[in-house]
Amino acid sequence: MRVLITGSSGQIGTNLALKLMARGDQVVGIDLRPNPWTGQIETQVANLLTMRDEDWPTGHFDVIVHLAAHAKVFELVEYPDRALDNVTDCFRALEFARRKRTPFIFGSSREVYGDIHRHVTEEAEADFVVAESPYSASKIAGEAFIYSYAECYGLPYLVFRFSNVYGRYDNDIRRMERVLPLFIFKIARDEPITVYGREKVFDFTYVDDCIEGIMRGIDSLAAGRVANQTINLAYGQGSTLVDAVNIIALALGKTPNVTYEPPRAGEVMRYVADITKARQVLGYNPQVPLSAGIPLEIKWFREHGDLG
Ligand SMILES: NC(=O)c1ccc[n+]([C@@H]2O[C@H](COP(=O)([O-])OP(=O)(O)OC[C@H]3O[C@@H](n4cnc5c(N)ncnc54)[C@H](O)[C@@H]3O)[C@@H](O)[C@H]2O)c1
Repeated sequence: MRVLITGSSGQIGTNLALKLMARGDQVVGIDLRPNPWTGQIETQVANLLTMRDEDWPTGHFDVIVHLAAHAKVFELVEYPDRALDNVTDCFRALEFARRKRTPFIFGSSREVYGDIHRHVTEEAEADFVVAESPYSASKIAGEAFIYSYAECYGLPYLVFRFSNVYGRYDNDIRRMERVLPLFIFKIARDEPITVYGREKVFDFTYVDDCIEGIMRGIDSLAAGRVANQTINLAYGQGSTLVDAVNIIALALGKTPNVTYEPPRAGEVMRYVADITKARQVLGYNPQVPLSAGIPLEIKWFREHGDLG
């Protein structure tokens, strides 16, 4: 199989590319920047926003996985033009898929559900009347384009809505401040941490579970077994940020110094995925609860010299 991954130098792209290559698939990546962790992934360093038709890689692809995006919610509240870039990136990748008649997978987000005050979110329940932030709006717009391409051009797709993916290749916190790596680094160094919204509940997804789901999607879509589905890909259980802090502190043998502040603008307060559809359609069966995933993440950071 030959797979094109946009955003291949990011956390999910790197994990996915290496996993596909390990089983013998060929991967071509496109990203703004070279991969910071590995030289193994064939990467075209290019900006989707400015690529012309002739700049795209040649040859047949079985599937395109579009992951490139500005992926930080709060950053896009400050710089909403970057949310518009996300929409254009998705449009450019979709146009390539249309020209090449290649099935398309999109890395969407739980953010499309907004701040629903429900415990479990089922795909069909998404309410797009309110977008919580420019980032949410960019994912909703990306999804809408994909659905329209399926209708008008018969382009097969899978939309995956990820949720707080953590583990391996998420230690680049200067570029991308993600909550779990940030807390791990700070607690390991006895630095104070701030929890914005102590009552927030998230569905943290260990990266191996997420990648396993995407790979099942790639195989099913390429084989024509599954198409035109929107699927939550998460662990399926909620944890508070306080739970996460306690698990980190226990795993590091530290006493955390925590300050609690109100949540910031645009932030979702509660999300727990209903993963029934992923189980039914893809045979997805996530394996790693937060209590097991955080120690794995800390082990990976230690092996990479991040924790001294
Ligand atoms: N990691 C998560 O928890 C999570 C949750 C929900 C949704 N997502 C979505 O999944 C996708 C992958 O997430 P990630 O965590 O790997 O993000 P990431 O920031 O680690 O990777 C995204 C990559 O896209 C690249 N990129 C951005 N704009 C580009 C452009 N115009 N041209 C080429 N490359 C560009 C960046 O350089 C980066 O390497 C994103 O679309 C994100 O919105 C991620």
